[in-house]
Amino acid sequence: MEENRKVCVTGAGGFVASWLVKLLLSKGFIVHGTVRDPDNPKNAHLRKLEHAENLRLFKADVLDYESLSAAIAGCEGVFHVASPVVLEACHDPQVELIQPTVDGTINVLKACSEGVRRVVLVSSCATAVANPAWPFDKIMDENCYSDKVFCEEREYWYFISKILSEERAVEYCKSNGLDLVVVCPSLVVGPLLQQTVNQTSEHLIEFLKGRRKLPMTLHVQHLVDARDVSDALLLVYESPEARGRYICNSFSIATWEFCDKLRKLYPNFSYPKLNDKEKPYHILGSEKLMQLGWKQMPFEKSIRDTVEDFLSKGFLTHN
Ligand SMILES: NC(=O)c1ccc[n+]([C@@H]2O[C@H](COP(=O)([O-])OP(=O)(O)OC[C@H]3O[C@@H](n4cnc5c(N)ncnc54)[C@H](OP(=O)(O)O)[C@@H]3O)[C@@H](O)[C@H]2O)c1
Repeated sequence: MEENRKVCVTGAGGFVASWLVKLLLSKGFIVHGTVRDPDNPKNAHLRKLEHAENLRLFKADVLDYESLSAAIAGCEGVFHVASPVVLEACHDPQVELIQPTVDGTINVLKACSEGVRRVVLVSSCATAVANPAWPFDKIMDENCYSDKVFCEEREYWYFISKILSEERAVEYCKSNGLDLVVVCPSLVVGPLLQQTVNQTSEHLIEFLKGRRKLPMTLHVQHLVDARDVSDALLLVYESPEARGRYICNSFSIATWEFCDKLRKLYPNFSYPKLNDKEKPYHILGSEKLMQLGWKQMPFEKSIRDTVEDFLSKGFLTHN
């Protein structure tokens, strides 16, 4: 590749972003990674990545425009990944979720006013799947949007934060002539590059211990591997024809069936008892992303790598 292609990744130390940083470094990019605390040991894995000499960490909170601006200066592209992931009830949703996700996204976009040719926003399938009016016999694709009122009534604050940030980002980029591509991953699984557990992996670990917390309380799981998500993010960044919104999902599977598949691979964990076999569920489709050339790893490989990583790090033990 040409020399010195420089991109920024926000929230570089997080689960999804770490895989993206690793991929970008492996492709020869110079990466400006933002982290809230560069000295926090939870970000130490970044400095051990191959080609870490091409990674420069910037201390930046997404609510602090000046710090973001310094990290984005000189970059040709930005991957905005940072946002709080709090799926359970939170004390103050406005402060804990909505402000950092919505205002943070607008701050990132404002900081892109000079020289940035494309912004890739990591949204979520939370902006699509909470749509009870969508027929079960129709694949949920990029035309499907979550129902904001439905989410508000149920206090799905994480969903609302992602819905609002995607909406505002699209409006802002349209009015300001900024090239934006939105990627909506489903529940991300896969091994962790960091030594700490992010919230969605924690809920999968809990499930393997027999306890159910959101999203494992739902009767359907839409799953994608973090390594496939990072491929998708780079693919949409590098494809000139990429436009609009991309659902990034590999498997839609009933939770009981997911549990059965896990039990076949790992019979000794204490799985929860599930009795919602009859409930219909939606399939979330990624045909648009596959048309750009996106490929997914097999289900069994992704799940095995995930569980083996949890075991090797001591987050789970063999019973
Ligand atoms: N995991 C999933 O299943 C999933 C599915 C769909 C979409 N996503 C999206 O993917 C992105 C990454 O999620 P993840 O699972 O990788 O979560 P994660 O490991 O918790 O990473 C979230 C990152 O956001 C950063 N962050 C949070 N608030 C911030 C703030 N005010 N300023 C700067 N950085 C802030 C965190 O930094 P600190 O380390 O400083 O807290 C962390 O680096 C999020 O946008 C999430 O909505 C995740």
